[in-house]
Amino acid sequence: MANIVVVGTQWGDEGKGKVVDVITPHVNVVVRFQGGNNAGHTVVVGREKYVLHSIPSGILHPNCRCVVGCGVVVDPAAMIEEMESLVQRGVTLDGNLFISKNAHLIMPYHPALDRASEAKLGARRIGTTGKGVGPAYVDKAARVGIRMADLLDERLFREKVEVNLAQKNRLLREIYDAQTFTVEEILHPYLRYAGWLAPYITDTSLLLHRWIESGYSVLFEGAQATMLDIDHGTYPYITSSSTTAGGAATGTGVPPTKIDGVLGVAKAYTTRVGAGPFPTELSGPLAEHIRARGNEYGATTGRPRRCGWFDAMVLRYAVRINGIETIALTKLDVLDQCETVRVCTGYRHRGEILTEFPEEESALHEVEPVYEELSGWMTPTSGVTSEADLPAKARRYLERLNELIGVPFGLISTGPQRAETIVCEDSPLLGWYPSVRASLL
Ligand code: GDP
Ligand code: IMO
Ligand code: MG
Repeated sequence: MANIVVVGTQWGDEGKGKVVDVITPHVNVVVRFQGGNNAGHTVVVGREKYVLHSIPSGILHPNCRCVVGCGVVVDPAAMIEEMESLVQRGVTLDGNLFISKNAHLIMPYHPALDRASEAKLGARRIGTTGKGVGPAYVDKAARVGIRMADLLDERLFREKVEVNLAQKNRLLREIYDAQTFTVEEILHPYLRYAGWLAPYITDTSLLLHRWIESGYSVLFEGAQATMLDIDHGTYPYITSSSTTAGGAATGTGVPPTKIDGVLGVAKAYTTRVGAGPFPTELSGPLAEHIRARGNEYGATTGRPRRCGWFDAMVLRYAVRINGIETIALTKLDVLDQCETVRVCTGYRHRGEILTEFPEEESALHEVEPVYEELSGWMTPTSGVTSEADLPAKARRYLERLNELIGVPFGLISTGPQRAETIVCEDSPLLGWYPSVRASLL
């Protein structure tokens, strides 16, 4: 049984939630390995829309076990709110949700530090989601973080909160001129959360090991995306975790030798939320058109997403960094009314044409995209379920993207619903999940 990693290839919001939901019936377990409730993964089932933030998108399938791995940072209040809202909508959590003992907690001072730091940065701010994800990972790396297991030991938890507050309060007061916290105002709610979450907290790396040994297949659900990776993204305009495929091993405790493949998710164009370089960014009526048709507003913060053309430089880089074997291309239908479509094939930089993604931070701010223009198809593709039914010009667009990226498409998504999906001819996905096409009919 294949254990596959799903990663975002651009700057997030590629439709990972939908793709994970389509694959979930073919796996036993879905595990999140990094990020926190900065993620917003949308799954549309009939008239119902779910936005998952901390819980894996597999949770809507009653036979799927969902794991929040050690690489994730968890805001317990947000997690409980998400759990309650799912339970109210009839989703089963008991027996299906497992949270790593080693996952770090987002504490109330983390969002406070996140916001204060952004305010201090002013024009240089990252444009974070403000959920405290960055500061929580700072504490993890600084070895003062507080983990899920600590919540279950009141004495230890109090001690760790005291040690942290001695430092954080000074930081908040003296550097950021922001509000401070008392030990009691943190302990009181957090110990209540502990009671709530205790039944779900466990050694998830052991659990995953046993499940894999017994033949279960595991899907690793990435959050954020390659260009937001702490090492490989557009630093410093990134998130604070390892969003790329390598993170799947460290963020779960499943060794790389048990991972069988990597699937990348890409939009048929590009979006980005927050600050930072974005070579193919559009402005004016065309950007507005794509934003409106694609409903490009943040699933977590509601911010309008910046929109631009497909960037094959970014995709080739994502394929290389993640070892992507096949791509799920989403939101093709959003381009249905564009008379022409453009693809970035290279970057012009100081008189040179770059064909590889530049490593140095400053270069991406300076590059100018080299575009190839193709004729738009001006025909609806919404809901199309087979490649043969796509307009010839849309097929030409896909073929050209394929040539530029160098790996085949496995899925093409033509709408937010599960069934609005094409399983490509000779899709590598059929090797991993032989009945994926049949299940969508
Ligand atoms: P994620 O963070 O990668 O899971 O993506 P988001 O959920 O933040 O954003 C993707 C949005 O596009 C969601 O609202 C999805 O319902 C929607 N979506 C996914 N695939 C398609 C598609 O093929 N066509 C259209 N029109 N919408 C899609
Ligand atoms: P999903 O999983 C898009 C962006 C923020 C900001 C930067 C750092 O839904 O694709 P952070 O709060 O993580 O410190 O913010 O990363 N960002 C995302 N952009 N989709 C996401 O998640 C994102 N999660 C974080 O906008 O630019
Ligand atoms: Mg999202």
